[in-house]
Amino acid sequence: MHVPDILLSNEIESALKSELIGKYVFLFDEVDSTNTKARELAEKGYDEGTVIMAENQSKGRGRLGRVWVSPPGVNFYISIILKPELVPAKATRITMLVAVAVASVLRKTLSLPVTIRWPNDILVRDRKLGGILIEMDSEMDRVNYVVIGIGINVNMDISILPDGLQKTATSIKRELGHEVKRIDILIPLLKGIGYWYRVYKKDGIHPVLNEWINLSSILGKRIRLSTPKKVIEGKAEGIDEDGRLIIGFPDGSFELASSGDVTVIK
Ligand code: BTN
Repeated sequence: MHVPDILLSNEIESALKSELIGKYVFLFDEVDSTNTKARELAEKGYDEGTVIMAENQSKGRGRLGRVWVSPPGVNFYISIILKPELVPAKATRITMLVAVAVASVLRKTLSLPVTIRWPNDILVRDRKLGGILIEMDSEMDRVNYVVIGIGINVNMDISILPDGLQKTATSIKRELGHEVKRIDILIPLLKGIGYWYRVYKKDGIHPVLNEWINLSSILGKRIRLSTPKKVIEGKAEGIDEDGRLIIGFPDGSFELASSGDVTVIK
């Protein structure tokens, strides 16, 4: 018999009541995008740590204006409001700490070889399991709030994806060969994000950066970076404190990249 895997906001809130992240949880059946909903709530003054989730997104969005395929009832579509004291140029630090939290919690709870592909893809065995989309409201010199959106493919059958994505995407179900109960992953995930946010606020970006480097799938490899303006090839040498990728070239020169898509050259 198939038991429906239902998430309940009060169950989530009571598991997280002493945590910064998850004290307030909004769980919708359907929204256009949880990031849009989170921005609306942030504008209304909702606190840092408010979590907005949905079972279904009609207009889930990814990086660079892409669509995030969001079938109902099987995945995670999560957005979190945070109010870090930061200048806008350093907001990528929040993406980095969330990527570290997501990858390390999924490794621990599922024993899967989860890695991070710059800038913020969550991979298992070179296929995309999840992604992170940061959006913010800021002044010149300070961030008012950030919304950090996390999409993770959990119990989704890959066969529902458009052809082009079937070779490059994966889900927890596909990797483990069976479905999981989402609440068993969700609570450690939100606690893990809270943990890394505290580490970052207390000790700065360096512990996050070190862990990001440990979890990276591309550092030390030859890569191709594609941006709307150009395609470059070089070696992924490292990542700097603001999340920029350091690409090295045979003549000893370097370039810093802030956005784009990376593929490893085999
Ligand atoms: C990417 O890899 O391009 C980022 C994908 C981010 C998807 C999540 S799902 C929850 C939140 N709401 C959205 O519309 N997008 C993010």
